[in-house]
Amino acid sequence: MTGADPVPDAAPIRLAAPAKVNLHLHVTGRRDDGYHLLDSLMAFAGVFDIVTVAPAEDLSLHIDGPHASALAGMDPEDNLMMRAARRLAEAAGLEPYARLTLTKRLPVAGGIGGGSADAAAALRGLYRMWGLDLNDRTMLRLALRLGADVPICLFGRAANVGGIGETLDPAPPLPPVPMLLVNPGVPVSTPEVFRQRTGEFSRPYPLRDGPVNAVALANELAGRRNDLEAPARSLCDEVGETLALLADQDGALLTRMSGSGGTCFALFSQDAEAEVAHARIACEQPDWWVAHTHLVSDARALDARVDAE
Ligand code: C5P
Repeated sequence: MTGADPVPDAAPIRLAAPAKVNLHLHVTGRRDDGYHLLDSLMAFAGVFDIVTVAPAEDLSLHIDGPHASALAGMDPEDNLMMRAARRLAEAAGLEPYARLTLTKRLPVAGGIGGGSADAAAALRGLYRMWGLDLNDRTMLRLALRLGADVPICLFGRAANVGGIGETLDPAPPLPPVPMLLVNPGVPVSTPEVFRQRTGEFSRPYPLRDGPVNAVALANELAGRRNDLEAPARSLCDEVGETLALLADQDGALLTRMSGSGGTCFALFSQDAEAEVAHARIACEQPDWWVAHTHLVSDARALDARVDAE
């Protein structure tokens, strides 16, 4: 193995690691290894962690930001960003030298793929900094070995996702509808939620035509669901409370849980309605995480917002 060309003066690369949102999630089967087969329309939200990649003489991870304390007890070596760096360096035949920084702004274990987004952003940043030339298939395979949600985060565009997360079929363009994300502050264990799921498997129902506005999108999604909502509610009362509170807001067109929870979202036609709902929920539940944002079809555009901050 050789080290990557040291570029001590190279400027750090700052990237957005946005929340992913499962607009619907159908569990369609179960593999022999216990992983579940999914059909999920996955897109992004305009809220993100910030990942910075800089040249260094060894590999390190530094975490700050409002949700950093949730990761405080964790060995940095177990963090998905460090594992991503090591796997990528191995695939490229390099030493994984980099200083990684994570500004953790999204709730941890919240069903919006924060850890997966951070790992995907680390892969993108290191790929650039190390000047790599690996093909998309290799990168997506590497991403999948890190976690089922890492491929979609690396892909960065809304997609009908199948398999356990490795089949990415680009979705039609989605309108940037106003959206409220609410997390009740209780971490939810993904394996536990999957374990609690019972009953028949659902049929896949990928989105084929792009809805023109928020109402059309909500109508499309109303015929679909998140199959993990019931098991998550049974494990965590706050998920049901969050969904009820969102559904109670004026103008909420559709209310649903993302991933395995506990973050839930509501779609609105108007930003003003989402803003009022944001204020009401923040007042009623001051300890919950509430974000007024928009649905994002192409997450790659969000890196520019990091530089603007
Ligand atoms: O791949 P990831 O580490 O995100 O998955 C965490 C756990 O969630 C897995 O170990 C598995 O128990 C469950 N899971 C699943 N089917 C999926 C994704 C995750 O059963 N498609």
